[in-house]
Amino acid sequence: RRVVLAFSGGLDTSVILKWLQQTYKCEVVTFTADLGQGEELGPARHKAELMGVRPEHIFIEDLREEFVRDYVFPMMRANALYEGQYLLGTSIARPLIAKRQIEIARTLNADAVSHGATGKGNDQVRFELGYYALNPDIRIIAPWREWDLTSREALIAFAEDHQIPIPRDKRGESPFSTDANILHTSSEGKVLEDPWNEVPDYVYSRTDNPEDAPNTPQYITVDFEGGDPVAVDGEALSPASLLARLNDLGKTHGIGRLDLVENRFVGMKSRGMYETPGGTILHIAHRGIEQITLDRGAMHLKDELGPKYAGLIYNGFWFSPEREMLQAAIDHSQKKVTGTVRLKLYKGVAAVVGRKSPYSLYSPGIVTFEDDAGAYDQRDAEGFIKLNALRLRLLGRRDL
Ligand code: ARG
Ligand code: SIN
Repeated sequence: RRVVLAFSGGLDTSVILKWLQQTYKCEVVTFTADLGQGEELGPARHKAELMGVRPEHIFIEDLREEFVRDYVFPMMRANALYEGQYLLGTSIARPLIAKRQIEIARTLNADAVSHGATGKGNDQVRFELGYYALNPDIRIIAPWREWDLTSREALIAFAEDHQIPIPRDKRGESPFSTDANILHTSSEGKVLEDPWNEVPDYVYSRTDNPEDAPNTPQYITVDFEGGDPVAVDGEALSPASLLARLNDLGKTHGIGRLDLVENRFVGMKSRGMYETPGGTILHIAHRGIEQITLDRGAMHLKDELGPKYAGLIYNGFWFSPEREMLQAAIDHSQKKVTGTVRLKLYKGVAAVVGRKSPYSLYSPGIVTFEDDAGAYDQRDAEGFIKLNALRLRLLGRRDL
């Protein structure tokens, strides 16, 4: 039998690789995706080879463009925020990894897939809902739910027994758990577990402290076409390079830090810290362009659907009919979300300071406080208000 493992090359998934070979006597195929986590992927190949994975069974793929174009941008069109704040950087990466694992399993006639998420979290759900949606009969092996390596020490001891290289920083107490890709870095556990304690400086890895950020604001523009960003400061960029550019800008100005206690799908609360520099700028910019290009009815409906959509992404239902239905509605709303947003980046804040669009619904001639030359008849408002007030007046007559 053969199993396709989502393999980061880190300590945990290296131990899993060896454990799968031993426990299931199976041939392990490794799949390592470059989603912009900013780590060298060469060592992943080397480690897999060391553990006897056949060279043709080591898959290392650069999925950055596909990730941003087909997962991050569609989600950004929805302005999705989980529990009002979380930009879903980890959640949105899981469906793509699951999809590639199932595709590789199909090509190689593997009968199982495996991942390194624990039995306590959201990620196991996201991976496995993806697997089952794309291959209803796939076998899933989730080592964290099966093995007896229940402590960090047990894991390290297993690694030592099997000549698995242990990074220096993992030797002692591992400080905290992280997950990174081009959209965000998330940190959880250890020093973060007491929600009363402020996140220590050393936990931040990809944003500068806003307190140390430049004292002069920086102005940038982001161009949108049909709801997606296409250029920064007038320079056309591919999806991944555009997000990378915004990440650089956000880092410098300390934008996109979030300390959050959230509700996991499995029922527990967890405290995490997120850094989403470019994604935060993008979220704010996208709302800026929607302000002038979306009609009120469309915008308010979108604002109701956004949290629903975010819940689906968070809980792992990317490959579901309800997510696809919402996506279709959201995408339809974006046809004329085209134009330019000007933002001011300053000490942790990205603020929209200007927006323009060939499809703008904003009408200065109507809204002006000055003479509007008959564009709007203020007398119409009297009847409008009276009819809206009718029920309030009937209530008032009865109850006051
Ligand atoms: N709580 C976040 C989510 O469910 C991140 C989970 C992974 N992060 C980590 N540090 N292991 O999407
Ligand atoms: C994990 O449990 O593997 C990470 C945290 C999560 O999935 O929520």
